Amino acid sequence: MNRIKVKTLLKATEPIRNIAVAGWVRTRRDSKTFSFIEVNDGSCLKNIQVIADQETEGHETVVNQLSTGSSVIVEGDLIASRGKGQVWEIKATAIKVLSLASTDFPLQKKRHTDEFLRGIAHLRPRTNKYGAVFRIRSELSYAIHAYFHERGFQYIHTPIITGSDCEGAGELFRVTQLDLNHLPLKDGKLDESADFFGKQANLTVSGQLAAEMFALALGDVYTFGPTFRAENSNTRRHAAEFWMLEPEMAFCDLEGNMDSGEDLLRHLITATMETCREDLDLFARFVDKTLMKTLENIVSSDFVRLPYREAVEILKKATKKFEYPISFGVDLQTEHERFLVEEHFKKPVILFDYPKTIKPFYMRVNDDDETVAAMDILLPGVGEIAGGSQREERLDILQKRMQESNLPEEAYWWYLDSRRFGSVPHSGFGLGFERLVMLTTGIRNIRDVIPFPRTPGGIEY
Ligand code: 4AD
Ligand code: MG
Repeated sequence: MNRIKVKTLLKATEPIRNIAVAGWVRTRRDSKTFSFIEVNDGSCLKNIQVIADQETEGHETVVNQLSTGSSVIVEGDLIASRGKGQVWEIKATAIKVLSLASTDFPLQKKRHTDEFLRGIAHLRPRTNKYGAVFRIRSELSYAIHAYFHERGFQYIHTPIITGSDCEGAGELFRVTQLDLNHLPLKDGKLDESADFFGKQANLTVSGQLAAEMFALALGDVYTFGPTFRAENSNTRRHAAEFWMLEPEMAFCDLEGNMDSGEDLLRHLITATMETCREDLDLFARFVDKTLMKTLENIVSSDFVRLPYREAVEILKKATKKFEYPISFGVDLQTEHERFLVEEHFKKPVILFDYPKTIKPFYMRVNDDDETVAAMDILLPGVGEIAGGSQREERLDILQKRMQESNLPEEAYWWYLDSRRFGSVPHSGFGLGFERLVMLTTGIRNIRDVIPFPRTPGGIEY
């Protein structure tokens, strides 16, 4: 059997005899002598039309039972279609039914709401929209690896289970082997030394600290994997489990870091527009009519680079009323970010030099001793897509910052070591991968760009 994917067949330049397609039935229509069956195999958005007649082996089952959602193998010839709407179709010699879907298959031919589909996340990839989301997600991951590979970055697999809290925000999921009903106590407190690792362990919130160690050996590196945050904010932009891309570059300052982030985003969007045309088109038609304009705008504009201090001034002077008041030393809220990007500048903005009081210990302190060499990349629609900084490479200042942040030096002895033995200026950032998928699809809820989203209060699947 010469099985060919639908995507390949639809690109054929001439008819092909004796081919097979395997997939799932989207619809079936019967006329007196023919049945028309739309088969989708997930390789692309489009279905292939299959024509079966009395001569087709398996014809009886097709006419009497073949329901939406059933899985089939179709054998036949690829021929030029006489019908409208498609160039090629398959004239079936045989249709083998692998499994008939019962008639309560929830994805019958009609539009379903995102909420409804979230309730059947195991089946939603079989819809046009979600098939497209996950093909784009896959293409984007590939584009990320290709981008860094071409630029000589090494891919580092940083650990998922860690003993440190990189961001210091305390949003950690604990990893334990202890029996929670019979906790070992010592002096009335939990005896962590009795646990698997002999001390507290948690799921990583960022691979940065580990990636830094490798940048200080291999030069340019990146890590790209799942990260976990127990932040109980039920927003459209936060998930408890999400993927983060984190490049880390030795001999790179904040400006180089901003250049990298900007170049990366432009490159990834351009790559998606080239490789995922058909899928993107679906989003541009049915999800966000301004999608292409938004993406083209990002690709063609120079990102605004604005010190945090100036951003605060702009926000203070704005005639728009904000729910949260803003002043130096206060973190920007989504409403502030959106105002800057969508109303004030109308293009991507990189904010930098944030007050040190609102940023983690590892960011490099600027000469003013009040700000750190931090940067956040803000985009229309999704807000903050990436955050990073130049890292504090000076041992004494790093130690001081750790004290201020109440971080025990013992726990970070290895991190401090890197500043003792050949420390160099280095920088990096973390890019939220789901936010990138949201950006390129126009989808505004993070739950709809992850196969099985993890959010507070539920863990189905
Ligand atoms: O700004 P964050 O917290 O930065 C870091 O973790 C740094 N250690 C990264 C680095 O410098 N290597 O997170 C980076 C990005 C955010 O800009 C956002 O896009 C995404 O990760 N992000 C989330 N995405 C989905 N759900 C969440 N709960 C997220 N938290 C952060
Ligand atoms: Mg951030």
